[in-house]
Amino acid sequence: MRERSLLDLDDLTSAEITGILERARRFHDDPPPRNLLRDVCVVNLFFEASTRTFTSFAIAEQRVGADVVALPPGSSSLGKGETIADTAITLAAMGVRVIVTRHPESGFPYRLAESFAGHVINAGDGRHAHPTQALLDLLTLQTEFGKIAGLRVALVGDILHSRVARSNILGLIALGAEVTLVGPHTLLPEAMQRDGVRIARDLDAVLPHIDALMLLRIQRERIAAAVLPSLDDYARNYRLDARRLEALAPGTIVMHPGPYNRGVELTEDVFAFPGWRYAQQVSHGVFVRMAVLDFLVNGAA
Ligand code: NCD
Repeated sequence: MRERSLLDLDDLTSAEITGILERARRFHDDPPPRNLLRDVCVVNLFFEASTRTFTSFAIAEQRVGADVVALPPGSSSLGKGETIADTAITLAAMGVRVIVTRHPESGFPYRLAESFAGHVINAGDGRHAHPTQALLDLLTLQTEFGKIAGLRVALVGDILHSRVARSNILGLIALGAEVTLVGPHTLLPEAMQRDGVRIARDLDAVLPHIDALMLLRIQRERIAAAVLPSLDDYARNYRLDARRLEALAPGTIVMHPGPYNRGVELTEDVFAFPGWRYAQQVSHGVFVRMAVLDFLVNGAA
C-alpha cells in the first residue's frame, strides 16, 4: 500500500486538518518525547532557496528524533540525468521513509510520490502548493481567535503566483472561513473566483471588515515582465502603510509568510503594529511540521 503523503491540503479532510492543528498546539504547550520518529530517516531535498521552511523542517525533524539527511540539489544525481523515479527508488532502498521537498516546478512532489515507497511532504512546488505554510497560518488564526469558522480573512497581493495563497484558500474554506482575495487584475485574474471566495480590487474598502489580513510577496522570479505591475502603482493601491493600518478594525491581525519586501507590500510601520503576527507564524511552523511528521508516520491517533 502506498504510504500517505502531504502534497496539498486537499489531501486531508477537514477533521484531519483540525487534528493536525490540535497536535501542533499540544506539541507547543507540552514538548513531546524526542523519540516520536526514532529510527525514521528523513531526507530534505530542496531545489529552491529557503530560509524559514528548510530550517523549520530541520528543527521539527530533530525535535521528533528523526535521522535527518539534507541532500543539496547540486549533490544529487538528478543533475546527472537520473530520473525522479530512480532517485525515489534509490532513497527508499536505503531505508529513507520521508522525503521533504521543495522544487520550482509545480507538480514535482506529485511525481516523486508516485515512485517513492514512503511519505512525501511538499515544502513548496512552483506556484502550486505549500501545505505546511497554510497549516501554520491556520494555527496562527486558531491561536488568535480560538476558531477559524466564520473568520473573515483577506489575502492581498500576488495571488496568481502564490503557492501560499493557493494552499491557504483550500484550508480556510475547508475550515469555514470567509475568504476575500484582493489585488489587481494582473495578479488576481477573475478566473481565480471560486465557491466561498470573493474577489475585491479595492483594498481600502476591505480593510475595516476583516479579522485577518495576509500579505503576500510579489513573486518577481515567477512573473513575466509583461504582467508585473509598476511597483509604484502597486504600492499606492495595495501596500500596507500607517494610513491603511489605521483603517483596520480593532483586533485585526496582519500576517505574512515571509520573506517580505520592505517598501513593496508593507512599510516599516507594520512592524510596530500590535497585530503583526509574523514571528508567531514562523514559530508555529516548527510545531506544525512536527505534527505533520507524526501524523504521516505514526498515524491519526
Ligand atoms: C514562501 C514560499 O517560498 O513559498 N515563503 C515561505 O515558505 N515562508 C513565500 C514566498 O516565497 O513569497
